[in-house]
Amino acid sequence: MDIFAVPTKGFSDQKFGTSGLRKKTSVFQQEHYLENAVQSIFDCLQGFEGKTLIIGGDGRYYNNQAIQTIIKMAIANQFGHIIVGQNGLLSTPAVSHLIQKREAFGALILTASHNPGGKEGDFGIKYNISTGAPAPSDLGNAFSKRCTEIDRYWMVKVQDVDLSQQTELTIGSTLIEIIDPVSDYSAYMQKIFDFKAIQRLFKKGFKITFDAMNAVTGPYAKHILEELLGADEGSVIHGTPLPDFGGLHPEPNLVYAKDLVDLAYSEKSPDVCAASDGDGDRYMILGKSFFVNPADSLAILAEYMEQIPFYKGRFYGAARSMPTAAALDAVCQKSKKDCYQTPTGWKFFGSLLENQKISLCGEESFGAGSFHVMEKDGLWAILFWLNILAITEKTPEQITKELWQKYGRIYTRTYTYHTESDKDVPHLIDSLSAKLPQLSNTQVSDFKIIKASLFNYTDPVTNQSTTNQGIIILLSDEARIFVRMSGTSSSGASLKVYLSQKSKKNNADPAIFLAPLEKATQELLQIQKYLGNKVDISVT
Ligand code: G1P
Ligand code: ZN
Repeated sequence: MDIFAVPTKGFSDQKFGTSGLRKKTSVFQQEHYLENAVQSIFDCLQGFEGKTLIIGGDGRYYNNQAIQTIIKMAIANQFGHIIVGQNGLLSTPAVSHLIQKREAFGALILTASHNPGGKEGDFGIKYNISTGAPAPSDLGNAFSKRCTEIDRYWMVKVQDVDLSQQTELTIGSTLIEIIDPVSDYSAYMQKIFDFKAIQRLFKKGFKITFDAMNAVTGPYAKHILEELLGADEGSVIHGTPLPDFGGLHPEPNLVYAKDLVDLAYSEKSPDVCAASDGDGDRYMILGKSFFVNPADSLAILAEYMEQIPFYKGRFYGAARSMPTAAALDAVCQKSKKDCYQTPTGWKFFGSLLENQKISLCGEESFGAGSFHVMEKDGLWAILFWLNILAITEKTPEQITKELWQKYGRIYTRTYTYHTESDKDVPHLIDSLSAKLPQLSNTQVSDFKIIKASLFNYTDPVTNQSTTNQGIIILLSDEARIFVRMSGTSSSGASLKVYLSQKSKKNNADPAIFLAPLEKATQELLQIQKYLGNKVDISVT
């Protein structure tokens, strides 16, 4: 078998952000583009010869073609063992678990997460390290740098591997194993949660609808919910991964999982409606006519953590990303646990999880996880909820209202303003940053600004500091505005504005309750002035 170098010119647009490299599919399909990124990753790693690489993706368009290319490059680069999910599938949390279980050197995950797929959609690649966690920033920066200067990649000419069968084969001196993507993950979930209690819940007639959004979690959810836990057949909808996700935007939130939300708010609502995103690391949960927002959900997981078999005596502390509303903080305070606020992006939880500073963490963008894997985990969060419902025999609405009763309710809404210009959002943020020192004690609309500051973070374990992670504006009446630029846009730029406000009143509509704060935000940020009229606004 001949290993040969293919010349490449380097690509200056290959920037590895918080979630790896994400671009339009057509960009990835350019000649040498994927290869350039993969070889750049390999070139920044050391000592992987003879070791194990895991490869899998969320099944979107170009998934399997990319996997065939990567297999050949991994052989050429002398990996000793390549593990690939059958049909090219592996959810992000399943990869993270497999890395640890199979003591792999690392993994390449093909996904653009919750972004639409297909020829016109997005594609992405990310690298996870031997702990199972996403590559840390310095490694990501090294990948981006290498992408621009690389001038060759290593390749072999061999036949494509049949990904449709679970099998083992050897090419050159590399063992290739095609595995069932679901079984290791589902066995692990059975160690974490009380499956017997959840089975009893379903036996009593409990109903769930799980929307896999035509993405990777379909096979996982069918096996775990329907086959193992006894949910009715058909409880999992959109359960077959499709290259274009059936035209759906696989992001589990009130906007993109609208049909599921409508079902939850209809007469026919099952006890729980749940959904997960493209690569299976995010989740959404609703009860009958009741949406649990991600910040409350995270606080609820913390509240019940010690009652889950796997976590008994292992609730060390918890963390939330700064944009996430602070419901978690109150639970931690009550149980005398540390609560950390990190910048956006899962990688900031890594050191805290690994060093037992925290057991649980989550973000406002429908992601939560624990030390069980080093990624967020959508199905895990849903199983956590089912375990809570099984042991308490309460509804999601009752559980959430008890939380509000105990700690107060925090109303929250996130506004995303997308523009195709990549200059306007940074301009708005820079101008606002420059004004911060003068903002304290000024009045904006109905609120008084108490403190306005940049969010800089120092990792409590590594002492590494990360600056300019957003702008925090604390206002009177326990209100807060948090502003930052999205790090995952595949084109243009998005401004994200997160509003939250605490209240003793717990039955208001969030949009109505937060209207005065929204007015103050418009006045302060002057979004239209900076971003113009060509903005695409979404609210979650
Ligand atoms: C978004 C979410 C963030 C999450 C990231 C990766 O990033 O807001 O919480 O970690 O996707 O899934 P953003 O586009 O806001 O940078
Ligand atoms: Zn995702």
